[in-house]
Amino acid sequence: MELPAAIAETLRRYGQTHLVAGWNSLEESEREQLLSELESVDFAQIVALHARRREPAGALASKELRPLDFLPLAHQTAAARARWEELAEPAFRNGEVAALLVAGGQGTRLGHNGPKGSFDFGLPSGKTLFELQAQRLLHLGRRYGRAIPWLVMTSQLNDADTRSFFAEHGFFGLEEKDVFFFSQGQLPAIDEEGKLLLETPCQLALVPDGNGGVFRALERSGGLEFLKERGVKSLFLYSVDNAIVRVCDPMLIGFHLKNRRAVTCPVVRKANAAERVGIFVETDEGSCVAEYSDISEEMRNAKNVMGQLLYDGANLAIHVLDVSVAESAARESLPYHAAFKRVPWCRPDGAIVLPEKENAWKFEQFMFDVFPRFGHMAAIEVERSDWFAPIKNSSGNDSPESALRMLLELHARWLEKAGLLQPDDPRAFEISPLCSYAGEGLKGKKLEDLVASGDLIQA
Ligand code: UTP
Repeated sequence: MELPAAIAETLRRYGQTHLVAGWNSLEESEREQLLSELESVDFAQIVALHARRREPAGALASKELRPLDFLPLAHQTAAARARWEELAEPAFRNGEVAALLVAGGQGTRLGHNGPKGSFDFGLPSGKTLFELQAQRLLHLGRRYGRAIPWLVMTSQLNDADTRSFFAEHGFFGLEEKDVFFFSQGQLPAIDEEGKLLLETPCQLALVPDGNGGVFRALERSGGLEFLKERGVKSLFLYSVDNAIVRVCDPMLIGFHLKNRRAVTCPVVRKANAAERVGIFVETDEGSCVAEYSDISEEMRNAKNVMGQLLYDGANLAIHVLDVSVAESAARESLPYHAAFKRVPWCRPDGAIVLPEKENAWKFEQFMFDVFPRFGHMAAIEVERSDWFAPIKNSSGNDSPESALRMLLELHARWLEKAGLLQPDDPRAFEISPLCSYAGEGLKGKKLEDLVASGDLIQA
């Protein structure tokens, strides 16, 4: 097969003829593959993304940003929290709540070979992130007598591995029919000059296009239909890498139902100015998150009159929203955020280059950029140590080690509260999510019995 004249002309016009420099040495099937990939690229979009790669996108493109106000959960009485949970109960019993996981990221900072959810971060039980989340859902499903649907977004790069990981582990005890996998889109990676990279002589280097593709992908895959058929009304949208994520937390769902805002988010205070988290901001139209990589030094360090950080509401990547919001969000076009990353590529002679430093621009949409279109969100400040133990890096902050420590400390607090462990007891235990979702159900039990039944494992 000759290179069709139309695609040759497109490549010439957009300065991308290097992509077919090796055309003559490709097999017929390889030519077909490369041609089909080239035909699916929107080159005009790539040119526009390249031109704007250094410009702020999303919330930061707006001039009128204010920090988002949030209600501290600690100021609420136990009775108020209990009322929110009560409000959520019928929603769970009627099957109106589902979990929506975005797990299409590449996890390049962690460097685990496989989907991030399949990562074993050192728990005594060896449970992976996926298994912990599945068991928290199982727990709530049993409590309310109704299975909670779990929608899992993958990317082309990890879809097959994610599905087989679930299958190999018997869906962690969940029913296969309650899990819905769908895959997000991808975009070409380009170099500083705007040239697309090849991954092999007949394949473009394509990378996932960010978690903001979740709404579009949900619609395209039939996920929205699945939700509607099930009668789901509220979605608990979250990231894969928080080891203590309270998937579908009933109190948060109840808080969302009570406030009747389109979107509800838990918030934690930023640990310090340099912490690499997104922050909640507000414009006159609505609330949003400004991603850490987009925030200026000045904004990062801005203080209020009391000398405290002005922008200190950190994003845990947990959002509760109505299914109707996800549905309209599928039709919104979101901005792309550019990031300069290391992307392996293939030279014209076929040699694969594993770059030692950043060499390529990736473009990502972020799920929270859609929120301002739905007005002002309801936000509640929660305790970081109860809610947020992210695994982002391979060591240091937000690493497997810090997440493991936080999870074991959290479980120690639950045991102390239930009177099963003294504060000065040096032992650490892991509690199965099947036994306790958030520290409840332990009082009156004996430590030895819990260990004997396998609900508790000593670290
Ligand atoms: P991160 O921003 O931490 O990115 O994703 P990442 O790709 O997992 O990790 P690094 O930056 O390469 O180290 C936050 C959440 O969004 C999901 C991730 O799987 C994670 O749950 N995500 C990210 C997607 O679903 N798709 C993407 O294209 C990017």
